[in-house]
Amino acid sequence: MQEKIVSGEIIFRSNETKILRKIYLKGQTGRPPESIWFGEDVGTTREANQVLKDIFGMVVPFETPKPVRLIQRVIEISTDIDSLILDSFAGSGTTGHAVMQLNKRDGGNRHFILVEMDSNICRNVTAERLKRVSEGYDKPDGKRVEGLDGGFRYCKLGETCFDEIGRINPGVTFSDLARHVFFTETGEPLTKQAKTNNPLIGVYKETAVYLLYNGILKDRQPDGGNVLTQAVLDELPEHDGPKVIYGTACRFSPARLKRENIIFKQIPYEIRVR
Ligand SMILES: C[S@@+](CC[C@H](N)C(=O)[O-])C[C@H]1O[C@@H](n2cnc3c(N)ncnc32)[C@H](O)[C@@H]1O
Repeated sequence: MQEKIVSGEIIFRSNETKILRKIYLKGQTGRPPESIWFGEDVGTTREANQVLKDIFGMVVPFETPKPVRLIQRVIEISTDIDSLILDSFAGSGTTGHAVMQLNKRDGGNRHFILVEMDSNICRNVTAERLKRVSEGYDKPDGKRVEGLDGGFRYCKLGETCFDEIGRINPGVTFSDLARHVFFTETGEPLTKQAKTNNPLIGVYKETAVYLLYNGILKDRQPDGGNVLTQAVLDELPEHDGPKVIYGTACRFSPARLKRENIIFKQIPYEIRVR
């Protein structure tokens, strides 16, 4: 301190009530932005634990929750009112809670994706918390906390569909690939588990989506039914409307496909990744 006073780096205002420190740009490499977020503004770990106790009835089912107000502050300064917010270390789901609460407060349309690798935490803590805060819950003292009205879809990661050069992973089942194809084609999930014995995997807005894979039509057809030929077409479940057919190859000319109202897409290359 004495050195800095002597060098003029530390200066006292004339009445000595205020100390100023001179800093120079050349000495600032790697200096983080200065800010302190106080517990009274962004919450504390105690507050985070209390929120979990309220939601889960005095039990704290997760060890390191963040306060909702802290994550809200992060979201407020880094996103827009309609942003998609990803938290790939979701834990107790504070981020989802914060997003729902902010949307409720300002009428925003933010969405979130939360990822949690521990399936027990994911189902029993992350998802359960979001369910309770969106629907509303009773605190242990009996007071009702009204729901935030947000919603979410719970998804479980399956097998990796493709390897690093885009080939279909041999371990992927027909129904896994069918669900992936249907989603990338339509943007909607298959509502039920795709049947393992039906190449017509689903219909979306009057267009039927077919998948020829894993010899779905068995040995009646070339390559076990993965190639679109006349014989394969005859075997396919009928659909009165446009068809999108995914397969490994197609024997029809573009004109013939057009006449048949078929769009053919070659797997794996034309399976889009959204
Ligand atoms: C510190 S906690 C997150 C706390 C969270 N912000 C909250 O308020 O509850 C980190 C979480 O990330 C999860 N996790 C760690 N590595 C992961 C990974 N590679 N993918 C997904 N989740 C992961 C852990 O299981 C743990 O639940």
